[in-house]
Amino acid sequence: MENTAEKRKTVLSAIQPTGIPTLGNYLGALKNWKNMSKDYDCLYAVADLHSLTVRPEPSALRKQTLEMYALLLAIGLDPQESIIFIQSHVPEHSQLAWILNCCTQFGEAARMTQFKDKSEKHPENINVGLFSYPVLMAADILLYQADFVPVGADQKQHLELARNIADRFNTVYGNTFTVPEPFIGKVGASIMSLQDPVHKMSKSDPNPRSFISMLDDDNVIVKKIKSAVTDSEAKVRYAEGKDGINNLMGIYSCCTGKSYEEIEKEFEGKGYGDFKAAVAEAVVNELRPVKEEYHRLMSDKAYLNECAKNGAEKAERLARRTLLKAMKKTGLYML
Ligand code: TRP
Repeated sequence: MENTAEKRKTVLSAIQPTGIPTLGNYLGALKNWKNMSKDYDCLYAVADLHSLTVRPEPSALRKQTLEMYALLLAIGLDPQESIIFIQSHVPEHSQLAWILNCCTQFGEAARMTQFKDKSEKHPENINVGLFSYPVLMAADILLYQADFVPVGADQKQHLELARNIADRFNTVYGNTFTVPEPFIGKVGASIMSLQDPVHKMSKSDPNPRSFISMLDDDNVIVKKIKSAVTDSEAKVRYAEGKDGINNLMGIYSCCTGKSYEEIEKEFEGKGYGDFKAAVAEAVVNELRPVKEEYHRLMSDKAYLNECAKNGAEKAERLARRTLLKAMKKTGLYML
């Protein structure tokens, strides 16, 4: 190979420990994390500090952080190959966030739609952390000089802010941070609710049949897919107005690698019953190894702790370098 000496690009992403993700999170985001780990130097974090902005029950936060960490390993991320860590274990994140807070305008943070949404939904707890949440996210990214950040649509505005902050810092203090690019994942990976397929699949949906959790039992998965909303045409084809079927085709395609065309051929002359059975089987097969590995890992907490510790050490080595550089540039007196 010719280009072996060329430096690999760096990818960073993070996920909040807010409970077991859905099939939608898995197919739309986490599966891409695994794919990217082959081609890039990847860092993946459990963003526990971000979760503090909604004041979770302490015991729940603690439990869900380890669960999320285990899940990242269970989907096949290799802690030797990628750096997988828990955000709060690397204090440089909070330290750089303060410096970046001082490079962020009140007005630009106030424009963030997620801040506006969350403040409306939780008027009883509009804390300053919620306001400066995207600045911490910028610190997560800029600390590692990430070239690419895989994000969903809901985080694009935050990434744009991170780019602006990086640019501004570089202009004021001299070149310090790589300006990160969004990494747009595979198209069609936006998985919708099984009951109301014009809305994204979400684990906070009050109707549990609308989403599949990554840890659902096989028989639960089958039941949920069988009760998914379809239409009266009884023809498996991808078309406008067939949101339910389009969604099931998307799920089936993500799990099997088959194109929509191939799927339409496969189910020509067959009804939705046959199609749903095939989708259910594909999802069950997709999640089974993940669940097995997850349960195995959760029974070996010592191993998980060891991985988290090693991950944090590796992350901190990189983060430290960038933080010191930023501190020096800003004129903080250093020994
Ligand atoms: N805010 C992101 C979310 O809720 C999680 C996150 C935190 C993140 N830090 C990040 C994502 C850095 C990408 C890069 O989905």
